[in-house]
Amino acid sequence: MVRDIILSINDLHIDYYTPDGVIRAVRGVSIELCKGESLCIVGESGSGKSTIGLATIRALPQNAVITRGAILYNDIDILKLSEEEMSKRVRGKEISIVFQDPAAMFNPLFTVGEILLDVIATHLGIRDRRKAYEYGINMLKLVELPDPERVVNSYPHELSGGMLQRVAIAVALSANPKLLIADEPTTMLDVTIQAQILDLLKRLRNELSLSMIFITHNLGVAAEVCNRIMVLYAGTLFEEGYTEDILTNPIHPYTRRLLECIPRAGRRVSRLKFIPGTLPDLRTPIPGCPFAPRCEYTTDICRKTPPPIYEVGYKHKVSCHLYQKR
Ligand SMILES: Nc1ncnc2c1ncn2[C@@H]1O[C@H](COP(=O)(O)OP(=O)(O)OP(=O)(O)O)[C@@H](O)[C@H]1O
Ligand SMILES: [Mg+2]
Repeated sequence: MVRDIILSINDLHIDYYTPDGVIRAVRGVSIELCKGESLCIVGESGSGKSTIGLATIRALPQNAVITRGAILYNDIDILKLSEEEMSKRVRGKEISIVFQDPAAMFNPLFTVGEILLDVIATHLGIRDRRKAYEYGINMLKLVELPDPERVVNSYPHELSGGMLQRVAIAVALSANPKLLIADEPTTMLDVTIQAQILDLLKRLRNELSLSMIFITHNLGVAAEVCNRIMVLYAGTLFEEGYTEDILTNPIHPYTRRLLECIPRAGRRVSRLKFIPGTLPDLRTPIPGCPFAPRCEYTTDICRKTPPPIYEVGYKHKVSCHLYQKR
């Protein structure tokens, strides 16, 4: 079956210019996402996850430079659009994003209703206040906010973190986008609220036939939410595949380590591992595999030559010299 590709990122390279040097944050990442698929980008802090998400909606900070690569959304060449076209045609309308900290997204001086009315007027052109209000209330109901009439008149600081994240999701989805990027949407929430937000996202994804890119540092969360997983490290792909294949047949030593970090029923917490060491300095050249200093299987070639990407199964890729040696 041929499936439509909604997003295609090809060999993306992104640098940040800082007073201390150039940080090569994304080093040749490619992503192909089909309609209705949900892909999780997993990696530890600083691996470049948010940078890829922000580039996709062209919201990178000013010190970021895309040095190479292409981002295609359907037939739209994202990197070639003018800012005006981007905000009129794509951002919020076709592709929306939800962040880790919803409070930082909203102007504290506006009520939830005012925020929603603005988005609804801008993206859907509904200027009749009563109609827009009804639409807004329905959006709040869609994200299962209790008492939407009260929420609509509340200021962001009057709502809990979980409620505010639901509002952020409602705002993100109000113009009916086809692709949702969720960047660590549950990291700042209590565990029980986290589970509720994940359930909500899964339900909305199915009901609205959304395609999704879900960003997290937690492989356990990734496995629960997404049908595909991409493991990112120092701005490069380490492993990618269908969730089931990654969980049952992880190839890269780093993916295996990440899996050992997931708490599971029947495994004593004291046996949970963590991965010693840190990401390499992204300002200095990395001659070989960026994981070489932390990997228990490192040999000479790992330190000297970047590993190629091997196809190890159906849509299962890995970038590790070890694979060739097996
Ligand atoms: N505005 C910026 N200026 C300079 N460097 C930046 C900027 N934003 C990110 N970086 C650097 O780029 C690299 C990738 O950062 P990014 O935020 O994409 O990582 P991440 O995987 O999203 O991490 P986290 O899990 O902490 O959110 C890091 O080294 C980070 O310090
Ligand atoms: Mg991030």
